[in-house]
Amino acid sequence: MSKNMSSIAVIGMQWGDEGKGKVIDLLSENAQHIARAQGGNNAGHTIVAEGKEFRFHLVPSGILYPHTKCYIGGGTVIDPASLLAEIEGLKKHGVPNVKRLYISPYAHIVFPYHKLIDQLSEKQKGGSAVGTTGKGIGPCYTDKVSRCGIRLADMLNPEIFRVKLQAAVLQKNRELEKLYNHPPLEWESIYKTYSDFALELASHVAPVEELLYQAAKRGEKILFEGAQGALLDITFGTYPFVTSSCTLSGGIAAGLGLGPTKIEHTIGVTKVYTTRVGNGPMPTELNGDELSRFPDHSASREVGTTTGRKRRIGWFDAFLLRHTLCLNGADSLALTKLDILDDLDEIKICTGYKKCKTFPATLEELQHAQPIYEVHPGWKKSTRDVKIYDDLPHNARAYIRRIEELCEVPVSLISVGPEREKTLWLDRFFNE
Ligand code: GDP
Ligand code: IMO
Ligand code: MG
Repeated sequence: MSKNMSSIAVIGMQWGDEGKGKVIDLLSENAQHIARAQGGNNAGHTIVAEGKEFRFHLVPSGILYPHTKCYIGGGTVIDPASLLAEIEGLKKHGVPNVKRLYISPYAHIVFPYHKLIDQLSEKQKGGSAVGTTGKGIGPCYTDKVSRCGIRLADMLNPEIFRVKLQAAVLQKNRELEKLYNHPPLEWESIYKTYSDFALELASHVAPVEELLYQAAKRGEKILFEGAQGALLDITFGTYPFVTSSCTLSGGIAAGLGLGPTKIEHTIGVTKVYTTRVGNGPMPTELNGDELSRFPDHSASREVGTTTGRKRRIGWFDAFLLRHTLCLNGADSLALTKLDILDDLDEIKICTGYKKCKTFPATLEELQHAQPIYEVHPGWKKSTRDVKIYDDLPHNARAYIRRIEELCEVPVSLISVGPEREKTLWLDRFFNE
């Protein structure tokens, strides 16, 4: 079936790192606009194209295609040093006309005190630390919600910026000294550095909300690039082991200032197993023998793109997926990393947790959840060079069909390697 729709959201269905970047890159070939709505440089999206590897943190992954326009929405938080380094990196890699990147003035800015407080508070929490990326994302969103944050729009006006920054640093210094016994920061040097950043970013600042609205009205093809994953959502994730933004499809509209009816289709991206980086419950996590039989972290590319941490690995959790499909209203699934299971003798799927009718809302229940597994035979054959679904080994097809059956949504794409061409399409999007 070919779908001539004009807007698609690509959302992570687990705890992040599902392969959203690869899916966005694939769909960008036929899209005109690609937009990020939330999160910051805590995200890390990897793309392998034309023999090169690209890592994106805040810039939408679709920028590799020269015909696209890319947007960073008002719901994001921007660390200017990191964003400027990312833009510089793209130029160095020969990505043409990076002026195609438009940034909303409503986005909040991550300052050095946010990073510091993120790292110091994690240290203070000790054994109950969230395991954040340490990029200052949580403290920046905290200031936004407390109505004392500084937005890109504020930073562009030297006088307004000076007043706001001075007040913010005064307040943060009290926090740093009293709560963390940390020496105070000097607002003047932050002011100087960030004023330079503002000058560099100024040419990218644009009315993203209006631009996307007009593009949607013209029926142009828009892709929404989700960051993180459903179970890291600030409200419905495994709280407090979550990030600080709405990572669900609903967060796209809120973060871009776009009406929700402008999202026509939501693709939920999920690995055919589960990973998590950072702390918090993960009912199907592998340990001991089972983990040692799994491909190692570098072979499976399960080392975090942003922090270099090894990701925790678990069996596919269909109970979790049914829950995150509900939270996102996803219309189809993109299954990634099938090739990683190629050599396993047996593969398990979790179909539910003992004594749980619905996905548990509390940490305590999740920590003690007892997964109910069904065991599937492996296919013991490489899927990496398979080009069409029917050529997949029988057991791999049976495994995919079982996932589809348990999740009750169709699979639209299967990924069998990090590269663009290692993709099996079961459905076509954005095709005329
Ligand atoms: P994202 O945050 O959702 O964009 O995912 P990441 O890029 O952080 O992590 C996914 C990792 O798996 C990256 O290293 C990708 O290059 C890699 N990857 C994506 N799809 C596949 C696949 O089908 N097979 C293999 N082997 N690697 C993949
Ligand atoms: P992408 O977009 C995986 C996790 C962190 C930590 C928690 C809170 O690449 O899928 P934060 O720094 O956001 O306050 O950390 O969220 N986390 C991610 N895990 N992929 C991500 O993004 C993540 N972004 C944040 O590891 O557990
Ligand atoms: Mg990632």
